[in-house]
Amino acid sequence: MSGPNNSYDPVQVTPLGEEQVVAMRDAALAAIAGAVDLEALKVVRSDHAGDRSPLGLANREIGALPPQAKKDAGMRIGQARAAVNQAMAARQEVLEAEAEAQMLVTETVDVTLPWDRTPRGARHPITMMSERIADIFVAMGWEVAEGPLVEAEWLNFDALNLGADHPARTMQDTFWTEPAENHVVLRTHTSPVQARTMLTRTPPIYVVCPGRVFRTDEYDATHSPMFHQVEGLVVDEGITMAHLKGSLDHFAQAVFGEGITTRFRPSYFPFTEPSAEVDLICFVCRGTGQNEVGDGSCRTCRGEGWIEWGGCGVVNPRVLVACGVDPERYTGFAFGMGIDRTLMFRHGVDDLRSFFEGDVRFSRAFGTEI
Ligand code: DAH
Repeated sequence: MSGPNNSYDPVQVTPLGEEQVVAMRDAALAAIAGAVDLEALKVVRSDHAGDRSPLGLANREIGALPPQAKKDAGMRIGQARAAVNQAMAARQEVLEAEAEAQMLVTETVDVTLPWDRTPRGARHPITMMSERIADIFVAMGWEVAEGPLVEAEWLNFDALNLGADHPARTMQDTFWTEPAENHVVLRTHTSPVQARTMLTRTPPIYVVCPGRVFRTDEYDATHSPMFHQVEGLVVDEGITMAHLKGSLDHFAQAVFGEGITTRFRPSYFPFTEPSAEVDLICFVCRGTGQNEVGDGSCRTCRGEGWIEWGGCGVVNPRVLVACGVDPERYTGFAFGMGIDRTLMFRHGVDDLRSFFEGDVRFSRAFGTEI
């Protein structure tokens, strides 16, 4: 075994020569000075001061050197590493202070900001009106019934005496769903809830059903492909048109005020027989057709004294039969009106779209009852 080769002292061997070490140190110091934040400094630390950095690798090589070279290189590298570590610590301190100062600025809470002026949301006027209507009927002992928006064609039409070839079908421009052979539609009116109710309950039935309906209408000031209706249905023994009239008069007065009653005009709906259009005494001119000053016509009813409100009638026995109700024993009445329309003339809203554009300032004008 031979001893260490003392005569061979490769002082100039790279990368541990003075120039190289100085270059490594300077590169590290420059990188440290250039680190703009703590994240960047972390990268610099691993690139220039870590075990795999040039200085780290050089440090590892020292052990393999002959004594004199080991001593020289050890000192050079040790000094260089110390300088780098010191600079690193100093930069770290500066950057930490900067980060903290930054945080104080960005996370500042202005305690003088008003805390009591956050706008409170407003319930949608259609929701409020739907619930108000429901309340009027619930107060008379009726129940609120609901049905799906996506409905079987049979319940939307056939059960209501609107067979496939019935001309009245085309009056309700229908959204059909795919595939067509499933016979599923977006309900065109709330009337299918009548059929659902009769099919699932036994009389006496007293229900009111507010909800959304869909038709392929253009979206303009008076039409929308989605709007709201409220349906009423009563099926019991001995029910007559007089009960219908009394219920609607009560409904009208509860919504529009004392004395605002209804009149019926003969009409046709397949699901009722006889059927009628319901008009309301104009709640602004109270039926006179005159404006407040008396020098022209009332703007709300356009001088008519009456406002068209909805449709109604005595439930057609064919509907009772289709829905499993014995027409010999029971009779009933039904009605349906537009909730959006009701709100429009009640509040003088001249563009139906106002209800659907989601502007909270519009909703707020109806009050912010929660
Ligand atoms: N479903 C009708 C429509 O959408 C409204 C209607 C009329 C409903 C008469 C009724 C009724 O219940 O009896 O045009």
